Amino acid sequence: METLTVALGDRSYPIHVGRCLLDQAGLLTPYLQQRKVAIVSNTTVAPLYLGRLADPLRRAGSEVVEVVLPDGEQFKDWRTLNSIFDKLLEHRCERSTTLIALGGGVVGDITGFAAACFQRGVPFIQVPTTLLAQVDSSVGGKTAINHPLGKNMIGAFHQPRVVLADTDTLNTLPDRELRAGLAEVIKYGLIRDLPFLEWLELHLERLVARQPAELAEAICRACRNKAEVVAADERETGERALLNLGHTFGHAIETGVGYGEWLHGEAIAAGTMMAAELSAALGWIDRQDVTRVERIFQRAGLPVRGPDLSVDRYLELMQHDKKVQDGKLRLVLLRQVGRAVLSDAAPTITIRKAIANCSGHG
Ligand code: NAD
Ligand code: GLY
Repeated sequence: METLTVALGDRSYPIHVGRCLLDQAGLLTPYLQQRKVAIVSNTTVAPLYLGRLADPLRRAGSEVVEVVLPDGEQFKDWRTLNSIFDKLLEHRCERSTTLIALGGGVVGDITGFAAACFQRGVPFIQVPTTLLAQVDSSVGGKTAINHPLGKNMIGAFHQPRVVLADTDTLNTLPDRELRAGLAEVIKYGLIRDLPFLEWLELHLERLVARQPAELAEAICRACRNKAEVVAADERETGERALLNLGHTFGHAIETGVGYGEWLHGEAIAAGTMMAAELSAALGWIDRQDVTRVERIFQRAGLPVRGPDLSVDRYLELMQHDKKVQDGKLRLVLLRQVGRAVLSDAAPTITIRKAIANCSGHG
């Protein structure tokens, strides 16, 4: 097991990455404030792993409330959030009851938001079971639900007490989900860690083939990047925005085609191609760099073109981005491969061309 730390003063917390961690109640019990805990999962993950997590906790003396949500991005909404509150109240959960999110980013985001709101804030723990959640969403305390007009529009910052990433859970993850997770792994290389990008270029096929040593190394290197960024800029007043490479375009794709149609990581891959195309149009990177970005996503089996929404529709959806300031789009772009910047330098006509070049059949 490797342990990293998110350094946030008295709210610092460990990220444990390794095999066979789910059964180790001792990794969680130091963070529980009372006997009662609520594990929130979904209809896919619960049959696979809820018992593995809950039974050792029960044996260690916890009373475990189980909350099982429907599976899917389309359920990351008010109605499902409310169903969590219903369960917590029915079971008389209290202000010191810890919520444990067991699942991918959807379960993690909605459980974290429930924990931020329930009785004005209760402790929570992340037990991520997708690659995407292990390398990104479980770390950093961003929690949210979707709104029909925009992704992750309603949410709060609420840090977990501990993150437990059991890499064995990835053995049951569908291929398409594993590939989607690789989009967020590649992101760290593109925005701030060129040596990691070069390592990924050397080991991509082994990652797609789920070689345990390579997966563990990729997860740790990704989490180290995320932990550094979050420690430096928890509330996204600066550097943290760079973690959103491809996300302004990607969130527009997810909302535009309907939540759950494109996986988050797939939308981010196509969105990152738009950002790369735009960076080249501004003269910041060259065509070879764009091809390099395209090549790594293709090798990961990810889409490099967005869906065939009209450019006007992309732009309309992108206006809901949380980085928009005074109505002006601010986009994460590549100053070079391995160094991202937040910029409002791109003229609308150039943004339009980048979207058109990287979407539909254009
Ligand atoms: P997801 O949570 O929908 O999980 C993907 C699918 O895999 C689901 O069907 C799930 O039930 C299933 N699954 C999960 N673990 C499994 C396992 N071990 N074996 C078999 N099946 C398993 O999707 P995701 O890609 O994990 O997360 C995407 C979400 O994360 C999006 O809503 C996105 O907005 C959010 N996100 C949040 C942050 C953040 O900082 N909070 C960062 C990135 C993404
Ligand atoms: N996934 C983006 C962030 O955590 O800031």
